[in-house]
Amino acid sequence: MNRTIAEKPVEKLSEDEAREELARLAAEIAKHDRAYYELNAPLISDAEYDALRRRNAEIEARFPHLIRADSPSRRIGAPPAREFAKVRHRVPMLSLDDVFTEEEFREFFARARRFLGLPSDAPFHFVGEPKIDGLSISLTYERGEFVRGATRGDGIEGEDVTANLRTMPAVPVRLHGDAPDLIEIRGEVFMSKADFLALNAAQEAAGERLFANPRNAAAGSLRQLDPRITAKRKLSLFAYAFGATSEPIAKTHWQFLQRLKHWGFAVNPLSRRIGSEAEAATFYQEMAEKRASLPYDIDGVVYKIDDLALQERLGFVGRDPRWAVAWKFPAEQATTVLEEIRIQVGRTGALTPVAVLQPVNIGGVLVRHATLHNEDEIARKDIRVGDTVIVQRAGDVIPQIVGVVLAKRPPHAKPFVFPDHCPVCGSLAVKPPGEAVRRCTGGLTCPAQVVERLIHFASRPAFDIEGLGEKTIAEFYADGLLRGPVDIFRLPDQEAKIAAREGWGEVSARKLSQAILARKRIPLDRFIYALGIRRIGEVTARQLARHYGSFRHWREQMLAARNPGSEARVELDSISGVGPAIAEELVDFFSEPRNIATVDALAKILTIEDVEAPRTGSILSGKTIVFTGQLTSMTRQEAKARAESLGAKVTDTVSRKTDYVVVGDDPGSKARRAAELGVRTLSEAEWLQIAGIKENTAAPT
Ligand code: IVH
Repeated sequence: MNRTIAEKPVEKLSEDEAREELARLAAEIAKHDRAYYELNAPLISDAEYDALRRRNAEIEARFPHLIRADSPSRRIGAPPAREFAKVRHRVPMLSLDDVFTEEEFREFFARARRFLGLPSDAPFHFVGEPKIDGLSISLTYERGEFVRGATRGDGIEGEDVTANLRTMPAVPVRLHGDAPDLIEIRGEVFMSKADFLALNAAQEAAGERLFANPRNAAAGSLRQLDPRITAKRKLSLFAYAFGATSEPIAKTHWQFLQRLKHWGFAVNPLSRRIGSEAEAATFYQEMAEKRASLPYDIDGVVYKIDDLALQERLGFVGRDPRWAVAWKFPAEQATTVLEEIRIQVGRTGALTPVAVLQPVNIGGVLVRHATLHNEDEIARKDIRVGDTVIVQRAGDVIPQIVGVVLAKRPPHAKPFVFPDHCPVCGSLAVKPPGEAVRRCTGGLTCPAQVVERLIHFASRPAFDIEGLGEKTIAEFYADGLLRGPVDIFRLPDQEAKIAAREGWGEVSARKLSQAILARKRIPLDRFIYALGIRRIGEVTARQLARHYGSFRHWREQMLAARNPGSEARVELDSISGVGPAIAEELVDFFSEPRNIATVDALAKILTIEDVEAPRTGSILSGKTIVFTGQLTSMTRQEAKARAESLGAKVTDTVSRKTDYVVVGDDPGSKARRAAELGVRTLSEAEWLQIAGIKENTAAPT
């Protein structure tokens, strides 16, 4: 490269120099486009990239006859597709609850027995499968042909990586033998330890970035915009579950695994049929011993109840099935020195102590911070700054401090004194008797709380605004670009200002605007969750959205519920899964005029989508139902879960709004009240029929 030409001001370039410079810029910009868009690994900052493009444009303006056919300014639509299309999974892709001990494992399935109303010694048959540490994908087959493949994404919506999956020999393009009209196959894409080492060696030789572990290598290889790159990476797949299907495909999970093999998928050969919890524990030990010698990384064992009819009855809580669990391998531990205890202030004002550690490698991950939970925990374990502490890390959870190595305590280490004022805004921090957490009383005057609320608001399960992460929010807040959630939607008007910020540029500023504008439509449940009201997690937000249906109705009812004797308050309290503590938080939130103003300002600029009852074709869809008395064929918990999956809203009290009351044995006042109000009652047999469950144990009507 000719340094002197590259450094010359545009107005001083001769025609020959300009020609040479345009050629250099075209090649240079193409290289950076590739690094940015295809490899996901920019080599220069956005500002430097913009400077290259600007120089190219300026030279072209001076010498229009020199504009090259391959000039970066001519490329139509400028950047190539920089994102994958989104795909909605027909059936959500869920995750698994974790357990770490045999006791927790047994308790998990004891809960499943209680849910089903089975005796505590009723046997379960399971399938045990090694838990592969890769990334899950969903493959859709129509009439046996592979038509679409997607990443898990947030479980509801993933990224369309069909073209990349097609390059993988492990993904059959056509199913062998007889296949249903429609089936979504789920499995884990991973890279073997050997292929990972070979890939990193090649990356190193080529001066490219190295991957931290096989999981990242697999994810990085699958999420390539250029499928030719994916094709060169060695990716493997084990299939282990299904999503939507057009017909029943097996009676047991084990049978399903056999069909998978027959269709042409690899199923982990270590998968095993297991007859009891005791056998499951043996299998776990075996896998733990095998772990190091396996050609791929595993981080535990997944146990699934074998009987698919039982799986169906057990259903899900939130994102996790009640019929499967991941029994993870034990946490890995190391010792290091505790350098400082920092107090973080959360979204709801909670003061959380965080351990700042001398960096230590635990199971391949460099750990610098650990949670200390709360002040009681520090006192109980008598953790002091300067102590040598035992740190443990398990799965994705934040590392924890297990204890102190007292023999190594420095002589002058003092017990930690927990602050009684907020370290950020100086407001009093109070700890109500009986509670473990001390909270800042500053509310919205406390910058830490405001920033944390904004982070929550933009986070993945809430508004999911890509590019608006913790660091950006904190910086924008500090510089006055953001004060509250409404300001987020004003950021696109300030694109030029953002582009001019250090570390930004036109490309990333535009990307951020697009990400924000794309989220001006939001489903009601995400909106409610995003508000960050205490105790309102994703599950409760969904419950509320389902119950109230529309933003207007929800808002109106929340305002009315402030009156303790109101019908709205009774209704709120009676929503299954809500309860008085949650109702109290909602009422508190809506008693604060500033909160109402924020909610209304947001509603003005957003389109908040109504939540419709799932179209299940059931007569229960969208209806409100109450259960009373003892059901003989299923537990109350199962009945509620079943009704909800059929699109019904389950409440605990009978009112004029109730559509059906299912009356079991020994009904109490609710059946009387139903009669008074003229609400339709259903016998258990009628309920079973509506629920689509074959009656065998129910009493005759
Ligand atoms: S079953 C509803 N089986 O673990 C059940 N998952 O923590 C869905 N995984 O997202 C998952 N090996 O990426 C299942 N044999 C296996 C698995 C497995 C690995 C991963 C999967 C899932 C995560 C849940």
